[in-house]
Amino acid sequence: MTILVTGAAGFIGSNFVLDWCQQYTEEVVSLDLLTYAGNLENLSSLNASPNHHFIHGNIGDRELVSQLLKKYQVRAVVNFAAETHVDRSIHEPSDFIETNIVGTYNLLESVRSYWGDLDEMHKKDFRLLHVSTDEVYGSLSKTDRAFNETNSYKPNSPYSASKAASDHLVRAWHQTYGLPILTTNCSNNYGPYHFPEKLIPLCILNALNGKQLPIYGDGQQTRDWLYVKDHCSAIRRVLEKGKLGETYNVGGWNEKANLDVVKTLCSILDELKPKADSTKYESQITYVKDRPGHDRRYAIDATKLERELGWKPEETFETGIRKTVEWYLANEAWVNHVVSGDYKNWVQKQYA
Ligand code: NAD
Ligand code: TYD
Repeated sequence: MTILVTGAAGFIGSNFVLDWCQQYTEEVVSLDLLTYAGNLENLSSLNASPNHHFIHGNIGDRELVSQLLKKYQVRAVVNFAAETHVDRSIHEPSDFIETNIVGTYNLLESVRSYWGDLDEMHKKDFRLLHVSTDEVYGSLSKTDRAFNETNSYKPNSPYSASKAASDHLVRAWHQTYGLPILTTNCSNNYGPYHFPEKLIPLCILNALNGKQLPIYGDGQQTRDWLYVKDHCSAIRRVLEKGKLGETYNVGGWNEKANLDVVKTLCSILDELKPKADSTKYESQITYVKDRPGHDRRYAIDATKLERELGWKPEETFETGIRKTVEWYLANEAWVNHVVSGDYKNWVQKQYA
């Protein structure tokens, strides 16, 4: 049997597939549309692996997905495929509606049809794990408690609204059709293979290239950061032990203001790659126009996952962020390919 991983050439999907193939011999089918965010180079270390199959395609293509499910006798689907960048969703929401909502709907229908035809034993063991975000819960005030699974959904951006819609569809397919689903809602990830439109990789690369480090608004918005490998271990745990139909919040209790995150990156770079003119990277910090509808604070309460499934993260923010900077410094070829591709400082052009 096999697992099908969608969005497998993206940031978290590729980390998940690489970790999975390192730990298990079970076959993996990676499905990805290879949008601007999908990068096959992330999976290139698996090129010679007989247990890994890459398929270029859309989660919304029912014929293709149905064929894959049958051909590979898939026992679990992990759905990472999505449009994911809040700024892009503000400027052009249509792909977010298409992939995150309509795509998820079509994926659910392909999976429902396949699952319905399985024999009783395989039907019982089958799982669809839908990977989602804490952004569906909206924004917290300074004094609010961290989001837990009982918080109501109050998404504020086109991205988070589209993810919220997909979560609702997934839930409804369980309630209505009995589809064996699990949903995870995770905080902001960081780590290897992160596309440099998001805050952490953008600032590492801009710092090294002598460019501005754009801080939206006052930089006091907080995010709850989790090292990507810890997110992957949480997903594996939920897939293995999660209760059907349940949602699990994933986070590492690492709430940080954006400005502090960027200053931390700067001081690690000062130590690992001091500038030739001995000025500090912090001097590149530039305050720019705020993002419209910018959520002030996200914080995740991961108690349910920790207590019920015994998961805990391995990295603290301090260890994870250092590993991340080291990875970007050590992987110059990957960085060069990514920055010379589709991504052309798009975000800075919008907000400078
Ligand atoms: P990413 O943008 O790096 O990767 C998304 C991948 O999905 C890309 O490889 C892209 O080519 C692929 N894709 C897009 N549309 C597709 C389609 N229609 N069919 C097949 N593939 C398609 O995103 P990421 O940061 O790796 O996020 C993965 C998932 O995790 C998303 O669902 C996101 O909402 C969720 N998530 C992300 C974070 C985070 O901090 N990055 C946190 C919590 C949850
Ligand atoms: P981002 O990495 O885009 O993730 P998300 O919007 O999903 O949380 O942004 C993280 C935070 O950093 C968010 O509060 C917006 C802010 N930000 C900046 O201040 N400057 C930037 O250049 C970017 C990309 C983000």
